[in-house]
Amino acid sequence: MSWKELPKAELHLHLEGAAPPEFIRSLAKQKKVDIGRIFDERGNYAYADFAEFLKVYEAATSVLTTPEDYARLTRVVLEQCAEHGVIYAETFLSPDFCGGGDVKAWWEYCAAIAEVAEEAETDLGITLKGIITCIRHFGPEKAKAPALCAAESAGDFITGFGMAGAETVGKPGDYAWAFDCAREAGLRLTCHAGEWGGPEMVRATLDQLEGIERIGHGVAAYHDGALMERLARDGVTLEVCPGSNIALGVFSQWENHPIEKLRENGIAVTVSTDDPPFFHTTMTREYEKLDEVFGWDEGDFRALNEDAMAAAFCDEATREDILKRLKA
Ligand code: ADE
Ligand code: ZN
Repeated sequence: MSWKELPKAELHLHLEGAAPPEFIRSLAKQKKVDIGRIFDERGNYAYADFAEFLKVYEAATSVLTTPEDYARLTRVVLEQCAEHGVIYAETFLSPDFCGGGDVKAWWEYCAAIAEVAEEAETDLGITLKGIITCIRHFGPEKAKAPALCAAESAGDFITGFGMAGAETVGKPGDYAWAFDCAREAGLRLTCHAGEWGGPEMVRATLDQLEGIERIGHGVAAYHDGALMERLARDGVTLEVCPGSNIALGVFSQWENHPIEKLRENGIAVTVSTDDPPFFHTTMTREYEKLDEVFGWDEGDFRALNEDAMAAAFCDEATREDILKRLKA
């Protein structure tokens, strides 16, 4: 069965990571930029491991140099999301890539993205919210500018702050200034952890950063019963991206993915694509695999989407409206 039409909510989607390779190739050609050998012979993104994935990601992002580029990208991404039944999405936005961390430049990028999001709400029936991210491997000093951008633009569209990038760099607490700044501006918080790090990284993230409500990935928690109990008890939602985990080699195959175990332990899990074209996935494919491998049915997916909306970084009116549409 195809799950394409089922209405869905997606909480973990990097905007640049959702850029189709042909979109990036055509921008590179138009701007006469050589982004090197980031594509394979079929034209897909080519990387051997996570470190190379990050390099390819950053090379692809380097051709997105104007607010108009981001506006066009946002439209393309929202059209793809809507095609796969997504009616509510949150996307990670990185001021390090949009405007080089300059707050004034960021405003222009943010305004361009928000304008496209507003149009898509009307003509595609999809609501988009933005979560600003700092990039962990750029270091704690560089995390301050995105946090200031986040604090400045917190509002109806920018509703959250988080951290992506290489989890092996530094400690979560090194980034506390950035998270404090965003939290004090009223933003909701999420952080990538437990994708490459172990359960101790998930624990350290919750212990060292105040107010974290969701964990990006967090799948390593399945090794640790006490941590799973804590996540379930404290209502920390995991933004699980199974297809991403398989493509990057966090788990060797779908059958070994712990999403079912995490769910059985009472943890609120959600399902997202992370960087769909990099991982040859879509929300439909994620659902098809969960059905095929774990036997998830319509009731499971409806509950999954309701859990996603309970953890969504949006206003109450939007939450109610999307929940109604999910139940229809
Ligand atoms: N940025 C984009 N995708 C990512 C991932 N899977 N992990 C960490 N940072 C990322
Ligand atoms: Zn991610």
